[in-house]
Amino acid sequence: MTQRSVGRGRSFGSRRKLGALAGLFALVAAGCAKASDKQQNGLRPAGKGARDIYHLFMPFVVIAVLVGLGVMFATVYFAIKYRERPGNENPRQVHGNTKLEITWTILPALIMIVMAVFTVDLIWNQAGSHPGSLHVTVTGKQWWWEFDYTNNTGKQVFTANELHIPAGRYIDFSLRSDNVIHSFWIPSLNGKKDVMPGHLNTMWVKADASDAGKVFYGQCVEYCGLSHADMRLKVFVDSPADFQKWYQSQLPGWTPTEVATFNKWNSTYQCSGCHYIKGVDATTDKAVEKGTMPIDFGPNLTHLDERTTFASAKYQLTRDNLWQWIYDAPAHRAGEFGKPNECPKRGANGAVHTDKDPCHVGMPSFKNDPVEPMSPDTAKQIADFLLGIPKQ
Ligand code: CUA
Repeated sequence: MTQRSVGRGRSFGSRRKLGALAGLFALVAAGCAKASDKQQNGLRPAGKGARDIYHLFMPFVVIAVLVGLGVMFATVYFAIKYRERPGNENPRQVHGNTKLEITWTILPALIMIVMAVFTVDLIWNQAGSHPGSLHVTVTGKQWWWEFDYTNNTGKQVFTANELHIPAGRYIDFSLRSDNVIHSFWIPSLNGKKDVMPGHLNTMWVKADASDAGKVFYGQCVEYCGLSHADMRLKVFVDSPADFQKWYQSQLPGWTPTEVATFNKWNSTYQCSGCHYIKGVDATTDKAVEKGTMPIDFGPNLTHLDERTTFASAKYQLTRDNLWQWIYDAPAHRAGEFGKPNECPKRGANGAVHTDKDPCHVGMPSFKNDPVEPMSPDTAKQIADFLLGIPKQ
């Protein structure tokens, strides 16, 4: 067998691989197109922060494409022009050509310096704060987001996974984590920034006034454990009046009647051991009011019924989704309590958790509760109650 026929056989196989690769690429591209429909697209900026980045990014792309094309064309051109042929076995060498060497050292360095100056300036700018801004503390959890508005009026307003912001106003974020490193990114509104334990990062967004009524999605973009890919968030850009309405709606706690109904289930399944609900326990309320009790467990459920999604915006907040989640959360999402990376120090119902213990607290399976397994009917009743169906 000649060398040539071996080569031909191999190239046929690699052509099929290439076809498969092209197919895969088309699939990925189609997936990206779908994501852009869901308002998660940095190339369609909707606010000042994302637009500043876009206006820096696009000239860089043009420069990179021009340099890339130049290098490619030069490589092909010189490869053909100086190819081996009779009488030209060893082309003229340019090694040691001082003028050329200085040119190709200084030119890229100059381009990089110019790019660096604009980039560093923008990085500093994006970490800045603004007088008259709304302040929101973002805490990365495993695996969901907490948004705390308390720093604005001193009133305890904090929610999970769904961020409400007024259009046309600067929102200054403080980014913190009490577990591992996450990264906070709302592609349409701003660049990504790490959310890390032991270090406070800052960034801001400012949605255009004309964006009032729009919804954007965000995503954790730093691998943070099993459900990293499920760690989404939803941003509602409200008109200033709608924002005030939403903010006021977050202030009241549950009524004694609501608490009494809820305690039927709470006494058995200890929901309030992990979830804060204003009105359920006076001591906890006081501690939260004073800021002396760190809310380092599950999402605040006081106003769950006003949200549209749950479990880090993974599921639509429907009765069916919610009761199945309450019934057996680990069956629906990786890393909830009962899955491989559960915290070994926790008690059977997931309530044991201290600051020294860096493990996340996942939602347990109440279907498999060791003390009193929950029935689907009970899960449905709890879901109905939380959604406000018999509550109002
Ligand atoms: Cu949080 Cu990835």
